Amino acid sequence: MTDTTHPDAWTEETSQHFIDYGAYFVPEREVQVETVVSVIPPAPDGAVIVEICCGEGLLAEAIARQFPKAVFHALDGSKTMLDSTAAKLDAVGVEHSSALMDIAETGWRNFDSPVHAFVSSLAVHHLDGPGKAQLFKDLAGQLAPGGVVVICDLVEAQRDAGLKLWERHWDTGVAQRAQELDGNDKMLHFFRDDGWNYYSAPDADPIDMPSSLFDQMRWMSEAGLVEVDVHWLKAGHAIFSGRKG
Ligand SMILES: C[S@@+](CC[C@H](N)C(=O)[O-])C[C@H]1O[C@@H](n2cnc3c(N)ncnc32)[C@H](O)[C@@H]1O
Repeated sequence: MTDTTHPDAWTEETSQHFIDYGAYFVPEREVQVETVVSVIPPAPDGAVIVEICCGEGLLAEAIARQFPKAVFHALDGSKTMLDSTAAKLDAVGVEHSSALMDIAETGWRNFDSPVHAFVSSLAVHHLDGPGKAQLFKDLAGQLAPGGVVVICDLVEAQRDAGLKLWERHWDTGVAQRAQELDGNDKMLHFFRDDGWNYYSAPDADPIDMPSSLFDQMRWMSEAGLVEVDVHWLKAGHAIFSGRKG
């Protein structure tokens, strides 16, 4: 499923890089995971939880530990990522399935039972604005009453001052994490030199299309979700959600 022919596409090699470097480059990763888990409402036995672009499965594992009687569906465009997630969910012992998909397509957005929670971390920015608005509408249509859509993602800065701030905050976070993990700043230099800080060059990679937090919350509201709220924001990475009334 991962496109290896398109030069700008996410590839299995990109997946491996993200697995290797995520611990350094994802701001306050543990806080992100804990925050997403904490805004999922208590799940009845058998509740369906869907993760869109699950990556290596760190969030999936935390959700499965919190809701071991849920049924977890893991979706991603990378087999490397799905295999890693499945291994983690097997270890927790939660009922689960996984499927390759392309987030931009719509065929995967129909589920046999109403969904208790859709979660997605660091992936919705691969859709353009109309694509995100349509995604939120499609997910809202599949939710059980009281169910939630929880998104963690890069968001677009509205002014140059905001862009510069988030660029600096992200660099600072990577510098701190590199010191904690390795006791040196080698990974900070790699982060900068390899162009990982989106806010240093927002137009550099066409697969990255963050939208403003304001727009995304509005699109959730227009999709019929209520109590649309932001729960955390650091270095341009935001966690926000909406609930089906
Ligand atoms: C930045 S990683 C985030 C992974 C994980 N959610 C996390 O937060 O650690 C982006 C994920 O989106 C997946 N992905 C990228 N483009 C995709 C696409 N067009 N369709 C489906 N999955 C895609 C990648 O395979 C990867 O797992």
